[in-house]
Amino acid sequence: MDSLDLNFDNILPFVSEQDMQALQGRIDSLHESLEKGLGEGSDYLGWLHLPSQTTALASIQKCADRIKDQCEAFISIGIGGSYLGARAAITFSRNFFHNQLATPKFPQIYFAGQNISSDYLADLLEVIADKEVCINVISKSGTTTEPAIAFRFLKQALENKYGRSGAQKRITVTTDQSRGALRELADAEGYQSFVIPGNVGGRYSVLTPVGLLPIAVAGVDIEALLAGARNWEERSSKTSKIENNIAYRYAAIRNRLYSKGKVIEVMASFHPALKYVLAWWQQLAGESEGKNGQGIFPASVEYTTDLHSLGQWVQEGNRIIFETFLLIGKSDRSLAVPRLDQDADGLNYLAGKSLDFVNDKAYHGTAQAHLKGEVPNMTLTVPDRSPHSLGQLFYFFERAIALSGYLMGVNPFDQPGVEFYKKNMFELLNKPGYEKGSL
Ligand code: PA5
Repeated sequence: MDSLDLNFDNILPFVSEQDMQALQGRIDSLHESLEKGLGEGSDYLGWLHLPSQTTALASIQKCADRIKDQCEAFISIGIGGSYLGARAAITFSRNFFHNQLATPKFPQIYFAGQNISSDYLADLLEVIADKEVCINVISKSGTTTEPAIAFRFLKQALENKYGRSGAQKRITVTTDQSRGALRELADAEGYQSFVIPGNVGGRYSVLTPVGLLPIAVAGVDIEALLAGARNWEERSSKTSKIENNIAYRYAAIRNRLYSKGKVIEVMASFHPALKYVLAWWQQLAGESEGKNGQGIFPASVEYTTDLHSLGQWVQEGNRIIFETFLLIGKSDRSLAVPRLDQDADGLNYLAGKSLDFVNDKAYHGTAQAHLKGEVPNMTLTVPDRSPHSLGQLFYFFERAIALSGYLMGVNPFDQPGVEFYKKNMFELLNKPGYEKGSL
């Protein structure tokens, strides 16, 4: 298998093929308005043909190679859409213990600006104190508080260590072409910078310099990532028919289940490499659909560990959920259970079997159990941990969630609700312009 695969056999007892096909007419016209840029939020469709239109790869790779030569520790600063895609790709593709293995050509990778914890930042500053450091600060608006605070600390640490001009050569900025405080700062200080296209929203920006630069610094092949995404761009542009377009099939299934009261989608992985892919998907789905009193709540679980905790709820709790298993078809490496002369732990019945074999049985056993527990479930399999496969997966979800949002009747490309907490926080912080009573 070299392509994504969606198995929905365990959905059919709950949603018939006929029920899904009933959506085909609407899907056809939504597909057309997506392709023609006629739907709501069409100012933010830059992601749609990004994989086939990206031209900045060479300069991103060149910058990444320079950073790899220059530093032992690389810090990517950002939050939400300016953070999760890169983290997803690096966790998906690299050795789990990358930072312990890092060599000068493969810097340690750290993330900052995704929380407001003094402990986290102080610990990070301590860890990088004696290392050669480069940073990439990423913010489309250029005004987001969390990354701005982290950048202030880290910029100061670099300037104390290397002087202002030394620090200038170690800071790369990814932001809007002309707007925001970060753009002004980048231009004033002469930092190397990359542009986030204005027509690509944060959660759809992983295949722009937002994701690509940190991903390339981590040694992941960004050309292969883009090639995988391009493959899915071509496939899903070509046909809107759910028999042949599994992104739309997935969207149709979600829509039918939602209409039957299944308001929570539990995305379950059986591989820890998917941890941040799930987090990235949660942002994509949650911000795209959760508005106007609508939306499937995107939850994520990591099996098998969560089978020993949340598994109880999934098996027997409130039947308002459906489950999507996200699997990796082939592990990078194979380990077989060793045979012991003394079978004290009683595991010799598994001797010679690979851990993937055991994991696969855990998956099948879980899918059957949850089906019995009245949880509709489907399985999306990504072929392997290659960047090409991940590119397919990123694009698959982008396309599917965009359509799913439209089917739900919401604009999948805005996020008005994200602003609410900020206003309150700024008022409480007495930010100029936000003082109590001034709004
Ligand atoms: O999807 C979104 O728009 C948000 O989650 C943003 O990605 C997040 O708030 C970061 O915004 P910015 O890149 O402007 O700092």
